[in-house]
Amino acid sequence: MTLLRDTPSTALSFCLASTFHLEFPVPLRRLAFTFLLLSVPCLQAQEAKPTLHEALMATRADRAGEPGVTAAFRRLAETYGTPLYIYDQPHIQGQVQALQTAFASRFPKLRILYAIKANTNPVVIKLLKAKGLGAEVVSRGEIETALRVGYTGPEIMFTSSSKNPGEIRRAIELGAVLNVDSLDELGQIQIEARQQKKQARISFRVNPGVDPHTIHQINTGIAESKFGLHLQDGLAFKAYEKAKGMPEIRIEGAHCHIGSQITEADGYVLTARKMLGLVKDLKEKLGIKLSFLDLGGGLGIPYEDGQTVMSPDDLAKALEPVWKEGVAAAGYEPTLWLEPGRFFVGGSGFLLTRVNTVKVTPLKTFVNVDAGFNTLMRPAMYKAYHRVRVIGKTKDPKLVDIAGDVCETGDILAEARTLPMAEAGDLVVILDAGAYGFSMASEYNARPMPAEVLVDGNAVRVIRRRGTYPELFRNTESAVPAKR
Ligand SMILES: Cc1ncc(COP(=O)(O)O)c(C=O)c1O
Repeated sequence: MTLLRDTPSTALSFCLASTFHLEFPVPLRRLAFTFLLLSVPCLQAQEAKPTLHEALMATRADRAGEPGVTAAFRRLAETYGTPLYIYDQPHIQGQVQALQTAFASRFPKLRILYAIKANTNPVVIKLLKAKGLGAEVVSRGEIETALRVGYTGPEIMFTSSSKNPGEIRRAIELGAVLNVDSLDELGQIQIEARQQKKQARISFRVNPGVDPHTIHQINTGIAESKFGLHLQDGLAFKAYEKAKGMPEIRIEGAHCHIGSQITEADGYVLTARKMLGLVKDLKEKLGIKLSFLDLGGGLGIPYEDGQTVMSPDDLAKALEPVWKEGVAAAGYEPTLWLEPGRFFVGGSGFLLTRVNTVKVTPLKTFVNVDAGFNTLMRPAMYKAYHRVRVIGKTKDPKLVDIAGDVCETGDILAEARTLPMAEAGDLVVILDAGAYGFSMASEYNARPMPAEVLVDGNAVRVIRRRGTYPELFRNTESAVPAKR
C-alpha cells in the first residue's frame, strides 16, 4: 500500500521538475504540466484515503460517518464477514510502552505480566510476549496457551481460586508459580510436590479488604469476595507461617488483585500500603524475604466519550512514595510485579456487526445486529457500557437500543443511545471490545464463533478464522461418521 501511494507521488515530482526545467523542449514541458494538472485531484483523493488503522482511530474519534472510514469498514466486512473482531496492533504496543515507561523509571525492580484471560488469541499474546511480558494464567487451558506461544513454565504465574488436581500437577511439573488461594490448596500442592519430588514455587493471593470502586462483579479485593487469603484476622500471615514449615514449598512472593476496570489510584495506594506491611511482618516475624510483590492488574480504560481515567503515569506517581516508604520499613525491596489484561488490549478491539433489521415498537426502537451476548458478553453480564458507531451515517439521530441476535430479553448490546438512524445492511461498530470480548464468547444459540483480524497500518491478518456450522457438532456423537 505504501508502494502504491509512493509511485504516483514520484511521478508527480518528476512532472513538477520537468515543467519548470528550462532546458527541456517546450512540448515536453507542456505535456508534463498537463499531466500534473490532471493528476492532482486523483492524488488528493488517494492521499485522503485513510489506512485501516487510521479508520479505526477515526471511528473512535466519532468520525465513523466519513467516506474513507466507511469504505474501510465496508472492505473489512465484505472480505472477512460479520460479526468480526478487529484488533489494532499499534494500539496494543502503545499501551505496553506507556505502562513500561511510566513504571520502569520509578521502579527499577519491575516485572510486568499479561493476564491472558483478557484476550487469549495466540497472536495477540505473542505481541505482548515480544515486549518482554510474562504470562498470568487462570486455568490448564491458559497454561497450555502460554506454552504454545513460547512461554516456559517458570515464566508463568498460575492464579485461580479453584484449581483442580490436574492443574496443580501440571503447574508444579512446569515450574510455574502457583498463586495459592486457600490453606486447603496449599496442602494439596504440598502432597503433589512431594509425589513429584519437587519444590513447588508459590505465592499467596492475599485479600487486602480494599474497595477500588468498580463494578460489583469485578470487585475482587473486598472482604466478601471469594478470592484470596484475608489480611484480616491474620489469615494470610498464618498461611505463610504454615508454608514456611513445608520443605516441599518454596515461598517466592505475595499477590493481590483488587478488581478490574479501576479508574482511580486510591485503591492501589491503600493496597500497596497494606501489602508492604505484610512484607515487613513476614521478614520481621517469620524471617521470610519475598522475591516479588504482585499488585495485580485492573487498570481501567475509558469506555465512554470524554471519560478520563487514571493513566499509568498517574498510578506510578501515586504508588512511588508508598512503595519507597514500605520497602524502607521492610529493609529490602522485592520486585514489583503487575499483571494487567484489559489495559493492554481493551481499547484495541472493535466489534464490527451488520444490521439485520430495524424495528419500531410503541416504547423503543431496536436496531437488531448480527452479534449478541454470545459474541460480546460484557453488556449483558455487567451492564458494561461500550461506545457504538453507525458506519457511514451522520444524520437523523434517534434514541435506539442496539439489540443482539440471541433469543434472550437481556441481549441488549447498547441501551438508549442517540445514534444516526441505521437501516438493514448498515454496519455498526462496538468500540473497546478487545478485552473480555472474544475470550468470553460462546456458541450459544448454535451460532459459530466470530473471526478475529489484526490490523497494522493497512495490513490485515486473520488471526482466527470464522467458526463453521460443522464445528458446532465437533465433539458430539453426530460428528463421528456412522458405522456401516
Ligand atoms: C488475578 C488476576 N490478575 C489480573 C487480572 C487482569 O485484570 P484486568 O484485565 O482488569 O487488568 C485478573 C482479571 O480478572 C485477575 O483475576
